[in-house]
Amino acid sequence: MAKSTQRFICRSCGSVQKKWLGQCPDCLEWNTFEEETVEAGPAKSVRGGKAGRIAFHNLSDPSPEQPRTKTGVTELDRVLGGGLVPGSVTLIGGDPGIGKSTLLLQVAGALAEKMPVAYVSGEEAVEQIRLRARRLDLAERPVRLAAATSVRDILASLESADAPDLAIIDSIQTMYVDTLDSAPGSVSQVRASSAELIRLAKQRNLALMIVGHVTKDGAIAGPRVLEHMVDTVLYFEGDRGHQFRILRGVKNRFGATDEIGVFEMTGAGLREVPNPSELFLADRSGSSSGSAVFAGMEGTRPVLVEIQALVAPSALGTPRRAVVGWDSSRLAMLIAVLEARCGVVMGMNDVYLNVAGGLRVAEPAADLAVVTALLSSLSDEPVPADTVIFGEVGLSGEIRAVAQGEQRLKEANKLGFARALMPQGRAGGSRKSNDEAVGGLTLDRLARLDDLLPLFGNLPGR
Ligand code: TYD
Ligand code: MG
Repeated sequence: MAKSTQRFICRSCGSVQKKWLGQCPDCLEWNTFEEETVEAGPAKSVRGGKAGRIAFHNLSDPSPEQPRTKTGVTELDRVLGGGLVPGSVTLIGGDPGIGKSTLLLQVAGALAEKMPVAYVSGEEAVEQIRLRARRLDLAERPVRLAAATSVRDILASLESADAPDLAIIDSIQTMYVDTLDSAPGSVSQVRASSAELIRLAKQRNLALMIVGHVTKDGAIAGPRVLEHMVDTVLYFEGDRGHQFRILRGVKNRFGATDEIGVFEMTGAGLREVPNPSELFLADRSGSSSGSAVFAGMEGTRPVLVEIQALVAPSALGTPRRAVVGWDSSRLAMLIAVLEARCGVVMGMNDVYLNVAGGLRVAEPAADLAVVTALLSSLSDEPVPADTVIFGEVGLSGEIRAVAQGEQRLKEANKLGFARALMPQGRAGGSRKSNDEAVGGLTLDRLARLDDLLPLFGNLPGR
């Protein structure tokens, strides 16, 4: 008889260990190991015996174009790479309360007109979902609702003759398979439940969207362990204090992963934001110091955002450096470059940096805008409100070219900016085409950080 053994599995990264450990040696998270029972037996070879033959195909064989269904939520379609692929499994991760259920109910409502859609919730009662649907003005849509948590029951229902083409499972942490002893939400349950659901989706060519909660300390089995099992992983991010929500692709077997979808949470659900730049710049007051507009790119789409800096004398022994929406080590680097290469010293000042609107910027192209905001705050002189900025800063104080300059400039031109501070680019190469592409925009090309300093007349110590 097969003997069962215990093993321990990390909730955060899925690493498997023989004994319990306080810290995971793979992902270095603390207190994430959870016990799991496995049926052990001698490893049997599968060679020989009754085996089928697999068929091999040629790469060049013609195959039908992957059909996609537009979900009707354009921002989601953009992140998915053009629409929902039948038989695909999409995981939507995000903090509790960020709006995952709201988004998926809206998707279900929009798609229900085109194909049969089921929405299975393990978190809310049917009455609650109905109430939400009424608030979202979707009450009349033919979405099939269910409140269920047993994967066995869900599978049986999805296999029936009138099965839907899209099933939404909200959330995977509430689902359980009755062959395992562990509680719903544990790594083994999350993994087993999703494996069953994914198998069904592939067999039946059923599109599946699965919600997964992530918490900061990884207290619930994060959807991390699922990421390799599904086709597409999207993260729904945002600050609960802000109304903006960003849907970000992390993995996509059917498209690119660098696109974002932008939504605004309103009293009547999520509203799509087709032109994020206008929204991120909406609350800008042009005349205050410490503010610079960064011409960024998110995937194929240019996004202009305001970067705010506050440099103020510190009351503490060690001055504070606080960053929201950007990389704090990158800020430390820029402050060091300013000191070493330009002689501008932040010294005993606190430095606060904020990307307005709750967006997270990951591009190094934001360096120049960050430095401009810092200098503007330090000198208390505003950056002209009609100026956009982009460019990467190197350790020797040089300003490096960045990709897609033309698109950034076009967006700035469209939004009525008059001037761009940007890198010099490759020895004159693309200069001409840029000038032509941007119409009324005056281009200020900078080679080194020093070229930026004359903009600010009263920098201390200079
Ligand atoms: P929800 O979709 O339940 O979050 P999740 O499924 O990710 O846990 O959304 C929760 C928040 O959204 C809740 O705090 C209220 C807010 N909300 C609105 O502001 N407007 C709305 O129309 C709806 C439905 C929710
Ligand atoms: Mg929810």
